[in-house]
Amino acid sequence: MNINWYPGHMKVTKDLLKANLKLVNIVIEVIDARIPRSSKNPDFDELFKDKKRLIVLNKYDLADSNINREWEEYYKKQGWSVVLYNSTNHKELKKLENAIEDASREIVERYKNKGFLHKTIKAMIAGIPNVGKSTLINSLAKKRSTKTGNIPGITKQKQWIRLTGNIDLLDTPGILWPKFTDEESSLDLAFTGAIKDEVLELEDILFKFVQRMEKMGLEKSLLERYGVEAGERTIDTIDNIAKKRACIYNKTEIDYLKVSRMILKDYRDGNLGRISLERPTTGTF
Ligand code: GTP
Repeated sequence: MNINWYPGHMKVTKDLLKANLKLVNIVIEVIDARIPRSSKNPDFDELFKDKKRLIVLNKYDLADSNINREWEEYYKKQGWSVVLYNSTNHKELKKLENAIEDASREIVERYKNKGFLHKTIKAMIAGIPNVGKSTLINSLAKKRSTKTGNIPGITKQKQWIRLTGNIDLLDTPGILWPKFTDEESSLDLAFTGAIKDEVLELEDILFKFVQRMEKMGLEKSLLERYGVEAGERTIDTIDNIAKKRACIYNKTEIDYLKVSRMILKDYRDGNLGRISLERPTTGTF
């Protein structure tokens, strides 16, 4: 897949992430539960190796429940704290706060043993674009007042959000771009919206998406959503959907861009059902 896009400010962002990393004890790494493998930049593992880490499988409401559990187990086995989370549902806030508190416990104990009884633990959010970092920070910030503090030794002021259990969260997330390791994973990023549509050939992405649905045996969710029959070939199915939804121009021509936007939006919004694209055991489908 040709992604003709390269963010020039990548190094600056990485340097900022590294600088902020020095201020915190715990990193809350946000990944997309539908594509945990592709939404996790492998560089994070190296960058965070000395930090306590909590993995947030965000957007789990859009992913398959059984596969969510598989990923949860997978990361737990690697010794990381894990929580399945939906940043758009405020009722789940307590679950996240508890997970952060649990993940910090070991550090709190360590401080206590040294005689620091009320030491504040500092945390930061990190992840690739579009995984839900801002939504998650906002959900945590809503209930709490933000405080600004000068941290000794640091000239710039940072904004921190006070959470329960003496934990302060940096209000700006650490961002890294995904690594385009292989075609499958680049496509998964495109399907879920982690790569901006503007830099993609959206019609190609849709074609690959429908092929993937067919390969996963989930074509039915598409056909039912739009009330159409499967075509003989992938392109025929797409044409059937386009015609049904009036994605047409000049009276008869299929508007492939319009139908691509519509189907991909429906997938991203969860209107095709809870669909995970990757699983820990077998890789992508
Ligand atoms: P960048 O600013 O590009 O780095 O993205 P981000 O990681 O801050 O993601 P953002 O919070 O902007 O969320 C991206 C989209 O995902 C938004 O449309 C959110 O409403 C949506 N979103 C975030 N978290 C969830 C979630 O847990 N479930 C669902 N269904 N949607 C979510």
